[in-house]
Amino acid sequence: MSDKHYTLTDPESGSVLELKRYDPTIGPSVLDVTKLYGSQGVFTYDPGFAATACCTSDVTYIDGEKGVLLYRGYPIEQLAEKSTYIEVCYLLLHGELPNKTELANFEESIRTHTMINESLLRFFNGFHYDAHPMAMMSGVVGSMSAFYHDSTDIHNPEHRDIVAHRLIAKIPTIAAAAYKHTLGQPFVYPANDLDYCGNLLSMFFAVPAEEYEVDRVAAEAIDLLFILHADHEQNCSTSTVRMAGSSGTSPYSAIAAGISALWGPAHGGANEAVINMLEKVGSVDHINEYVARAKDKDDPFRLMGFGHRVYKSYDPRAAIIRKMCHKVLEGLGQQDNPLFELALRLEEIALKDEYFIEKNLYPNVDFYSGIIYQALGIPKSMFTVMFAIARCVGWVTHWCEMVADPTSRIGRPRQLYTGPTERDYVSLKDRG
Ligand code: ACO
Repeated sequence: MSDKHYTLTDPESGSVLELKRYDPTIGPSVLDVTKLYGSQGVFTYDPGFAATACCTSDVTYIDGEKGVLLYRGYPIEQLAEKSTYIEVCYLLLHGELPNKTELANFEESIRTHTMINESLLRFFNGFHYDAHPMAMMSGVVGSMSAFYHDSTDIHNPEHRDIVAHRLIAKIPTIAAAAYKHTLGQPFVYPANDLDYCGNLLSMFFAVPAEEYEVDRVAAEAIDLLFILHADHEQNCSTSTVRMAGSSGTSPYSAIAAGISALWGPAHGGANEAVINMLEKVGSVDHINEYVARAKDKDDPFRLMGFGHRVYKSYDPRAAIIRKMCHKVLEGLGQQDNPLFELALRLEEIALKDEYFIEKNLYPNVDFYSGIIYQALGIPKSMFTVMFAIARCVGWVTHWCEMVADPTSRIGRPRQLYTGPTERDYVSLKDRG
């Protein structure tokens, strides 16, 4: 913490307020405005929280100008190359890489808590066959609070740990049940002898009538995508989890709120929207037409998978996924994947366009992830569900950090009121 401060003067009364400046380990400093209203009678105005730090956090660091992403200090490129999703989960939750025993114990705990209560499973019968899987996900994950309420003392660190393990272990099972429901196929129970992503593939693609063998190319591709999606500091869905959780609600309800926030096309829903967009573009000949539409202020169309609130350079995750696309598509015998060719060409054209250069719009994590998911046989409607499975660890890590932080307060923003001033009620008979 620094002893430096900024001085703010009220232009009318001349009263002065010193705003304390707090310095982070890396990145921009922040000004403490908590005394602003009490002293000056004004609030700060920051729609979309573009310039507001809402908490302190030790989890993830992003430098949007340089395209840097660190989980607990470790660069995403190193984790993508050398780690596994389960190890990254441990790192995010505990702050340090595990030793062999810690990793083995953690992996076993996650691997052996994959089953969900049969009553929870029956919930899926209440959904129509064409319900979007994200709608089922938020409903069923929220319902976990009805099953585990007796062991959830959020102020007990051991209980918080149980919550984290339960969520990480069971969310693939819930996702697979949602998928099987849309297909009308029988649910496939988790297999605890399989690793995290192998088990996920088995629950998605196995059928009771046939033997199923996990495709290692697919399992490794998913593991890598999950590492890249595991956390991203105070993004929309994580902030939603923190906001909902700040009231002291059940963690499962807070995570369900995060799932709902993730679904939107401006956030995690972009991976589905990218494939829809590429399919609409159809061929290289139509790219210019769509780029022109994206630049037209009178057209609501945007290049999906492009742009980011924080990254003003290439999203490091997109760079890794683009590279990985070549390898995975080759491994699956799909090296001539037409959507990938189209996406590469679209990126090339957009990145040379003055509009995208001037606004620093680059491909984000979702631009290429859908191409891999689609190549693995995962349907579009499940792309955001895959994101939710991966991000679950980030959400629960931030929820734990917030609950353990003694300075945390209920989230309650203020507003700039622009409605009518006080007026008297007019009875119905007197209204024109
Ligand atoms: N296509 C065309 N123009 C764009 C795009 C885009 N994809 N993204 C931003 N712009 C333009 C905006 O129109 C705006 O122009 P202006 O300054 O002339 O008004 C400028 O770039 C800044 O954009 P904002 O919307 O103000 O930026 P913001 O930080 O609020 O939004 C967002 C970021 C939501 C990601 C936006 O870039 C977008 O809608 N992208 C497409 C959806 C997407 O890919 N979302 C996934 C993000 S990654 C994730 O959440 C996992």
